[in-house]
Amino acid sequence: MSLDYENWKQQNWDRAHRESDITALTGTGLEGHLTTLRVRNLLIPGASVLCVGVGMGKWVLETAEITDRVWALDISHVAAVRMPKNSNFTTDPQKLPPNHFDLAMSLWVAPHMSNHDLQEQVTGVVRSLKPDGVFAVHYKEPLDPNAQLDNREGASDEFSIAMSAMMLRRRKHLASMVSWAGGEVICTVNEQVSQFYQIIEAVAHIKKTSKSLRR
Ligand SMILES: C[S@@+](CC[C@H](N)C(=O)[O-])C[C@H]1O[C@@H](n2cnc3c(N)ncnc32)[C@H](O)[C@@H]1O
Repeated sequence: MSLDYENWKQQNWDRAHRESDITALTGTGLEGHLTTLRVRNLLIPGASVLCVGVGMGKWVLETAEITDRVWALDISHVAAVRMPKNSNFTTDPQKLPPNHFDLAMSLWVAPHMSNHDLQEQVTGVVRSLKPDGVFAVHYKEPLDPNAQLDNREGASDEFSIAMSAMMLRRRKHLASMVSWAGGEVICTVNEQVSQFYQIIEAVAHIKKTSKSLRR
């Protein structure tokens, strides 16, 4: 039986963390996260910060050198061993504390995720933001606005696309996921455009809408 996306994702990330597989886990440092996600001004001492996707964990340790209020969210329990002392870790976006974070960062995570999982994550993270909190998320868009890619969920190549971090979403698709979660995209930057892969590497900054502030 061939491995499907659901089986792949848990087994893959658990294995990658157990083996410290840097090819799978990327290993971007904090500097790379702050630059790509354009949130340098938001990471200040005392800020309450959520690191989405622990990876090799160096960036989480570096974040903890700036603020002592650090949480991480990761699909793999194994990633918890990479967390700094006195930090918090969960695999369940619904277990994040409500109205808690000034800043949430996600780099090289969404391009591996199915629409279903990303919707669940965005919903949990938006709920956990403070009224002025920002969720900065890197994702990939198709360069061709007419590319046929909607409804990837369950597609026969979903597994290989997720593995190679090529899950693509149109800007308006991400915006509707965020809106459903009670948030809004306040700005989007084209971080990089690749003619070769026909993709845009985009970064969206997301906030809670005033209507959702009471949730
Ligand atoms: C490619 S690494 C990127 C890590 C880091 N941001 C970097 O750039 O080095 C992806 C991380 O996201 C985690 N991850 C993958 N799918 C996830 C999901 N559905 N929910 C939460 N974390 C996920 C993986 O376990 C891994 O730690």
